[in-house]
Amino acid sequence: MSEKQQFASKIGLIAATVGSAIGLGNVWRFPAETQTNGGAAFLILYIVCVLVLGVPVMLAEFSLGRGGRSDAIGVFRKLAPGSLWWIVGALGVLSAYVILMYYMVVTGWTLEYLVQSVDGALYSGIGTAGTEGLAGLFTERMNDYVGSTWSPLIFTWIVIGLNIVILMGGVQKGIERLSNVLMPVLFVILLLMLVVSLTLPDAGAGVAYFLDPDFSKIDARTVISALGQALFSLSIGMGVLVTYSSYYPASTRLGRTSVIVALTSVLVAVLMGLIIFPAVTSFGLDGESMRGATLIFVTLPEVFARLPLPWLWSALFFALLLVAAITSTVSICEVPVAALQDRCGYSRRRAVLTVLLPLTALSALCSLSFGPLADVKILGYTIFDFLDMVSTNLLLPAVALGICLYMGWFAPKGLLADELSNNGSLRGSATPAVTFLIRYLAPLAIALIVVFNYI
Ligand code: PHE
Repeated sequence: MSEKQQFASKIGLIAATVGSAIGLGNVWRFPAETQTNGGAAFLILYIVCVLVLGVPVMLAEFSLGRGGRSDAIGVFRKLAPGSLWWIVGALGVLSAYVILMYYMVVTGWTLEYLVQSVDGALYSGIGTAGTEGLAGLFTERMNDYVGSTWSPLIFTWIVIGLNIVILMGGVQKGIERLSNVLMPVLFVILLLMLVVSLTLPDAGAGVAYFLDPDFSKIDARTVISALGQALFSLSIGMGVLVTYSSYYPASTRLGRTSVIVALTSVLVAVLMGLIIFPAVTSFGLDGESMRGATLIFVTLPEVFARLPLPWLWSALFFALLLVAAITSTVSICEVPVAALQDRCGYSRRRAVLTVLLPLTALSALCSLSFGPLADVKILGYTIFDFLDMVSTNLLLPAVALGICLYMGWFAPKGLLADELSNNGSLRGSATPAVTFLIRYLAPLAIALIVVFNYI
C-alpha cells in the first residue's frame, strides 16, 4: 500500500471539501425545493437541519476518515476488524457509484448548454419566437438536447474524460489544485450574477417571495425534504467526507472545518435563491416553471433571452453550474478510486480507469433514458429517476445512519473525542454536544427520512 496522500494546505483542503459540497444540490435542487416548500420557511428549516444534523454527521465522517486514515471501507476494516461494519463503507462506495451514473449525465447537459450558449445556437431565433413563444422554444430545445441519442452522450463522455484527467493528477496536483482555482471562479461568477439579478425590474418581489416565510406549507414532508437536502448538499452519506478527511493532516481542526464547509454551502444556496427568484418573478414566470430540470434548462434561458447579451449571461451561468458540478463529481469518484487503491493495491492510474471507464457505459444507459430508452421502467421509474431515488432516498441515508450508529455507539472509546480535540490539544471542542447529536438525534432523524419516503 502506498504512503497515505495528504492535502498540501489548509486552504486547499477546505477548497476541495467545499467544492464537493457545492454542487447541483445547491445551485439547482435547492431553489426548486424552496419554491415547492414555502420559500423562506423551507430555508429556515434547511439551515436548522444543516446546523443540528449536517454538522454533527459531517464530524462523524471526518473523525472516522482521519481516525481510520483509509478509504471508506478500509476505515472500518482498521477500526473494527472482524466485524461487518465494513458493509457500511461498501454501501458508501456503491451509493457513490450510483450517484455518479446520473450526476455525470446532468453535468454533461450543463457542458452542452455552456457550449450552445457560447456559440449562440441556444439563442438563435429568439427574436422571431416572441415573448410568448420562448417557453415553447426552450422546451423544444431541451427535449432536443437532452432527449436525443448522441449529443448528450458525447458531452457526458467528455465530462467523464475531464474527471479522468483531474483524478489522474492525484490528491494534491489534481483535486486540490483544481479546487483552488475553481472555487474563486465560482464565487466571482456567483457575485456577478447576483448583481445582474438584483438590478432587474421588480427584483424586490422575488427577494420578498424568497425571504418571506409561508409556514402554512410546512408539514412532515417538508421537514423530511429539508433533512434530505441538508445531507445531499453537504456530501454526507457517500464516503466522500470519510475519504477526503483521510487526506487531512493531523493538525486540521475538524470542528472549524465542518462549520466553514456547512456555512459556505448554505451561503451559496441562499445566493442562488437571491439570483433565481428575482430573475423568475421579474419576468412574470410562475412557480410551475421552477420544477426539476425545467428551471435550469428552460426557465433560466427564458430569463436570459430577455436580457441584453443573452448568450453571455447564459454562458456565465452554465459555467458556474459546471464548476460546481465538476468539483463534486471528482469528489464522488475519489471514493471508489481510493477504495481500489487501498483495498486492492491498484496504482492510481489503474484505479481511476477501472472506476471511470465502465461509467461511460453505465451513464449512457442513464442518458438514453430521456430518449430511446424512455419507455424502460424499473418499478415504474425511468432509469434516471430510479437511480436518483435509490441513491438519494435509500443508500445515502442508510450510509449516514450506519456511520452515526458506529461513531456514536461502537467506535473505539475516545476516537470521536480525540479527533474533535486533536488528541486533547484543542480546548473548547464541542465534543459532548456533538456526541449527543450523533448518538440520538441524527440517527432518529435519518431513520425518519427513510421511513417517510417509503410510506
Ligand atoms: N453535495 C453535492 C451537491 O450539492 C452532491 C454530492 C453528494 C457530492 C454527495 C458528493 C457526495 O450537489
